[in-house]
Order: sequence, then C-alpha cells, then structure tokens
Amino acid sequence: MARTLITSALPYINGIKHLGNLVGSMLPADVHARFKRLRGDEVLFICATDEHGTPAELAAQKEGKSVADYCREMYEVQKDIYTRFDLSFDWFGRSSSQQNHDLTQHFYHQLDQNVLLEEVTTRQVYAIDDARFLPDRYVEGECPHCHYENARGDQCENCTRVLDPTDLINPRSAVSGSTNVEVRESKHLFLRQSQMVDKLRSWIESNDNWSHLVRSIAFKWLDEGLKDRAITRDLSWGIPVAYQGTPRPGFENKVFYVWFDAPIEYIAATAEWAEHNDEDWERWWRTNSGAGDVEYVQFMGKDNVPFHTVGFPVTQFGANEDWKVVDMIKGLNWMNYYGGKFSTSQKRGIFMDQALDILPSDYWRWYLMSNAPEGSDASFTWETLQSAINKDLADVLGNLVNRVVKFCGSRFDGKIPTGGTYGDTENETTRALQEKFESYTANMEAMEYRKATSDLRAMWVIGNEYLQRAEPWKIFKEDAEAAGASIRYALNLIAFFSNVSAPFIPRSAQAIADLFTEQTLTTQWPDTVESMTDALIPDGIVATPDVLFTKIEDEQVEEWKTQFGGA
Ligand code: 2FM
Ligand code: ZN
Repeated sequence: MARTLITSALPYINGIKHLGNLVGSMLPADVHARFKRLRGDEVLFICATDEHGTPAELAAQKEGKSVADYCREMYEVQKDIYTRFDLSFDWFGRSSSQQNHDLTQHFYHQLDQNVLLEEVTTRQVYAIDDARFLPDRYVEGECPHCHYENARGDQCENCTRVLDPTDLINPRSAVSGSTNVEVRESKHLFLRQSQMVDKLRSWIESNDNWSHLVRSIAFKWLDEGLKDRAITRDLSWGIPVAYQGTPRPGFENKVFYVWFDAPIEYIAATAEWAEHNDEDWERWWRTNSGAGDVEYVQFMGKDNVPFHTVGFPVTQFGANEDWKVVDMIKGLNWMNYYGGKFSTSQKRGIFMDQALDILPSDYWRWYLMSNAPEGSDASFTWETLQSAINKDLADVLGNLVNRVVKFCGSRFDGKIPTGGTYGDTENETTRALQEKFESYTANMEAMEYRKATSDLRAMWVIGNEYLQRAEPWKIFKEDAEAAGASIRYALNLIAFFSNVSAPFIPRSAQAIADLFTEQTLTTQWPDTVESMTDALIPDGIVATPDVLFTKIEDEQVEEWKTQFGGA
C-alpha cells in the first residue's frame, strides 16, 4: 500500500486565522489528504499550533495572560475551528509539546556533535526599563530602507526587507514602548548553513518536479550566499538550550528560535499521534525504519518556502541520521482581500470563525479551492464567492441532485428503478465523463486545484446535460421503463459525483451519499466512470434531500461588504 505523509505549515498560536491562511496551506493539504485516502493510500496528515516566538508572547501579553495559559486556550479555539472546517488531520498537535522539546534538543545535540554549531557574540537591542533583550518583533522602529515608522525588528512590513533589530532607526520596545534602549552583547548559537550549500543545491536540483515558484525561491537563497543563522534567542518562553536536562553553559536564559523548533514539530506531532494511537512514528520519519517508501508532501504559503527548502533540510541533513526529507512542496501565493493582503495584525479580511457564522464550510472550501492562489496571487471578492456558490454548487450540482431525486420520488416511489437498459445517450455521457475524470484525477495527483475544480465542475455540467437530453419526465408516459433506466443512470452519476467531490465538499458529498439509505457507497476512487454507472443496488430506497445548497442573495453580499469592509 502506498504511504503518504502530509504536513501543513503550522499556524501561529496568536489568534484565529483568516481565509488567506486557510487557503494557503491547511485547506489544500486537507484536500490532498482526502484524495489520497480515497485512492487507497495509507495517509498520515499532520498539523499543530506554532506556539513559540514573539507572536505568541506579545499576543498573550495583550490579553493579560501568561503565555502558557494563552497558548492552552488558543490551541482549543483553533482546533475547534479546524474541526468545523472539516480539516481531517490525523493529529493536530502543539509545538510546545514534550515530544517537541525532546526532539528539538536531540537535533541540537546532533548538530553540535557534527560541528555544525558555533557560538557567536552578537549585538542585541536591550531595553533598560523592561530589563530584557528585545529580539525580533519585540523591537519596533523606523525602517532604514523605506523609512516606514512601524517596522518590526525581524522585517519591515512595508518594503518586506528582512531586518536585524539593530538596523532600526529610533528603536523602541514593543513590550512597553520605552525608547530607553541600548545595544548589548549576547552570545548565540549559529547553525553553519554555509557548510551545507553544495548538499542543498544538489538536493534541490534533484527535485525537478517542484514548481517554478518553489525552486526559484530556494535557488534565490542559495545564490545570494547562504549565511549562517542564529538558532537561539534571549527569551524565556520556548525550548531551553539544553540536552538531557543540562543547560548549555552560558545559555541558561536562552531558548531556541521559533523557526528552529517549529518544523521539528512535524516530527514531534507524529510522535504525539503515535503515542495516542499505539503507533510507530519512526516508520514515517526514519528511512532506516521504513520511511523510505513514504511520499512526503508539504503545503505552505510562499513566505514559508525558504524555511522548508533550506532551514529545516539543513537541520535534518546536518543531524546525519537518515531523516525522511520532503519529496514534494506545494507552495501557494497570497490571496488578497480588496487590494491588500489578508492581515492578522491589521485585522483585515475575513477570519475563519466569522466565515462559519455566515456560510457553511463547504461553500468556503469550494470557493477557496476553485480560486486557489496557485499560478499567481488571487483576489477575494464577494461577487466571485456568490457566483461560485450560486452557479457551481446550487445551479449545477444541487439542481441535478434535486431534479433526479424528486422525479424518482414522484414516479418510482423513491426506489431505484430496475427495468430498461442504457443506450447511446448514456454511453456517450459515460465517455465524455471518462475524459474529464482522467484529467481530474491527473490534476488531483499533481495538486493543481484550479484545474481540478474546473474538471469537477465540467463533470457536474455533463450530468445536467445528460438530463436535458434524456428528458425522463417527457418519455415517462410513453415508456416508463426507458425513463426508469434513465433515472437509474442519473442516480448512479449522482453517487459517483458524491464520491469524487468529497475532497472539496465533504459534508455535501456525505449528504448526497446519505440519500441512498440502504446501501453503503464505495469510498474508493473509481478506476473508470463506467464501473460506477450501475453500482447502486436497484430497488434501493432514495430519500428526499433537504436543500443541498442555498443561493447567496445580492442583499447578503451588500450586507457582508459593509460588515467586513470590502469595497
Ligand atoms: O508562517 C507561519 O505561519 C509559521 N507559523 C509557519 C511555521 S511552518 C513550520 F515550519 F512549522
Ligand atoms: Zn521598509
């Protein structure tokens, strides 16, 4: 049995995520996991909250909570929302887990043994009034490049340049606002990435099936000369710089940098899963324990690509212990919200909890995936959302199901008709569907979601066209048997659509499957459309559906535009 390991970039713990985060990694990862399960693979789909670093600490402070309490609460909040969006993680962990502490310290020890770490005395911003160092986002000030006033210590949001906290003009503490700061020396551990440039380059070159987006970002980093980078910080919240309980001398008050431990949580979350399920995590992560035949796919937004093509692989290769590295990276662009980016810090756009307050999860899943930011950035608009729901889901798929099932109810007592045989119209329809289905399957394998959703939509349209041609309601009077065969064929198409639409709209797919109360539909991806055209047991009962999809009215669109500030 083929085995697929899927990870989604870990959402930061600092608050509820927006739809840009969702479509940028967790949702496409879920679609892939669902697809691979239908294909019969053994799938392990892993995600977790990313709980360390300054975003967590600052958010906790804003709410007046300890970081540990804040993370514990926000983990539950996030987990609940992902369940409501039907994200089918096999495990949703926390990067603050004991497993991640152990594994991160293990990697640290290995890298140290392999002489890939170096102690370097660095210059850090220190806030005298706060009596603490201000790494990364703890310090704000004027960008030395574009002179934006509110640049953060790690990056300027305005011109996107990566910064060092000591670069900022007029630095101030993000904790207290105090400008009483000075530069102090502090020792840090640097990972000697520069030692591994050749190894990385040949590895990235060997992955010639990665997208242009992913490869170009990876090569850009290598071409610009890979600098050694600090993997520790002067903070108290995080994973201590220690091994087997003993802190590294001089590092007693320091922790690992969030980007060092976060990807290790992919492995640690698998260990969390294994512990709770009496499973073996090394089967998925150690090539000498059977992980050699695992296909490992990562999903992430483009800003995360450097950390997954360079940072994490350096950790894994540097440990020199046959760790399973990624086989395929699906990198996504941004989804924009009316000109700007969806933004957590600026509270712009639609957040996942708000989204579920106004529409069911399948509506969002379909809209977001059929407009996924794949080839380039994409734009969210309320009009395109309305059209995706009203046209694709309600007019095409929903309408087909309703018409067929209602007719079956009124003319055939709600039972799958037994008589009659299929003719040219059915055979031609099957052939047309087969062509689209092959393309659909190939695009799903390739994780090309705009193309895949367009194939799927085309199959639903073919189903509707079939009904227009066969017109069972017209021929019923003269030839009830022929009409019955036609309805049987259409019902089988509906069951087929339910099966293959499930990765995108799992809840609606289940609602359709539930119409066939007396039979269990297959949960395997079909080999051919033909194999599905007489799969339902004749005489079986077909229930009357509740409304599958409700159209979005123009008034609702206007209301939401006002509510969410889209214009
Ligand atoms: O950019 C982000 O949202 C990060 N929290 C992603 C981390 S991915 C992984 F490496 F943990
Ligand atoms: Zn700038």
